[in-house]
Amino acid sequence: MDGQAQRYDAIILGAGAAGLMAAARAGQRGRRVLVLERADRVGKKILISGGGRCNFTNLGAGPANYLSSNPHFAKSALARYTARDFLGMVERHGIAWHEKTLGQLFCDGSAQQIVDMLLEECARARDFGGEVAIRCGEEIDSVEHGSELGFAVTTQSGHHAAPALVIATGGPSIPKMGASGFAYDLARQFGLKIVEPRPALVPLTLGGEEVLFREISGVSAPVVAMAGPKGKQASFPEAALFTHRGLSGPAILQASSYWRPGETVTVNFLPEEAPGWLTGLKRTTPRLTLRAILRERLPQRLADILADRIGLMSELGNAPDKALAEAEKRLAAWQFTPNGSEGYAKAEVTVGGIATTELSSKTMEARRVSGLYAIGEAVDVTGWLGGYNFQWAWASGVAAGDAL
Ligand code: FDA
Repeated sequence: MDGQAQRYDAIILGAGAAGLMAAARAGQRGRRVLVLERADRVGKKILISGGGRCNFTNLGAGPANYLSSNPHFAKSALARYTARDFLGMVERHGIAWHEKTLGQLFCDGSAQQIVDMLLEECARARDFGGEVAIRCGEEIDSVEHGSELGFAVTTQSGHHAAPALVIATGGPSIPKMGASGFAYDLARQFGLKIVEPRPALVPLTLGGEEVLFREISGVSAPVVAMAGPKGKQASFPEAALFTHRGLSGPAILQASSYWRPGETVTVNFLPEEAPGWLTGLKRTTPRLTLRAILRERLPQRLADILADRIGLMSELGNAPDKALAEAEKRLAAWQFTPNGSEGYAKAEVTVGGIATTELSSKTMEARRVSGLYAIGEAVDVTGWLGGYNFQWAWASGVAAGDAL
């Protein structure tokens, strides 16, 4: 390495949600921290999150709301830094917030307030004898590890060294914002295993006979969407939205994280109806058709397409009970077989990543590489839609920040 390296206590790669949180915590413990960010500004995903208002946490966040090859891994960090802890920080900074639905907390104002808060927390390091230096527009040329300097990071602006290095560069979702698999490449360089990543919280595409559903693009309805292995399906009672490419809306985005190519997504279009409801209606309103009944309960264009595909045209009174029971079953468990997803270009997050088996669940430090840490979306812990992913970023950032 040519030239003198600037020395720090820790270098954090990535000034996103997790990286900034870890920097603030370590700085407030008196550490000298350097944060290297490739983009021209910090926290870009925070700024676009929650429609610009940042769904910064979820009051119900717990391990059950996360996907990971090891469902127990997130427990410790989530328990030690909770949604209430983050909310306390938000309130200390005088940021007005509201609960939108299902425990999802948003800023009343803008996501910029969350970024400003994190930067102020980083600046407060000085009150504790620490320092957080944040440098944007830094392309990482190389990372080396040796006994003398610890970790040596070279960027176009020079050489930096520290005994601790934190990988906080996120996942590859939304490449047009500069997201990439950098975290995985770096982890592999140090011999860490990667759980195969795939796009999550992503719209699904329909082909074949199911393209018919693309004709009702723009229609949405409250449903229960289910995906995942038989017997262990995750189910999400939220809205589904039909798009010109297939399926979206919160219920489908949630299910997409559990879906794998070739598998089906099951949708209950009438979750409010108890078993036997259709044969019950045959007795009370025998003159009605299935189409008319569905139009009373669902948006008309959706009702029509479902009625057409079930193909039960006669009045209920003339339909055999068996056919009605069959129709009921299909409406409660409609099977879509998506032919793909809209990919990383549209995925809010990435499932998979740096294997949790490689990391300490207490500190996020690599078990086999002393001083190397990984946090946030780069790790194989992925939250549901609704503020859970930021809560993981905060909690894992705190876990590492308190250990640096
Ligand atoms: P994050 O992606 O935030 O930060 C990584 C940082 O590393 C970035 O600043 C990046 O530029 C930088 N970087 C990448 N490669 C680098 C390199 N080679 N060198 C240096 N720096 C590099 N979650 C939630 O809980 N509530 C919400 O409302 C939303 N909304 C939302 C909307 C949209 C459109 C998206 C795409 C995502 C969300 N999310 C969300 C998910 C949330 O944004 C995500 O889980 C967190 O930002 C992850 O935090 P990290 O710090 O791990 O990565």
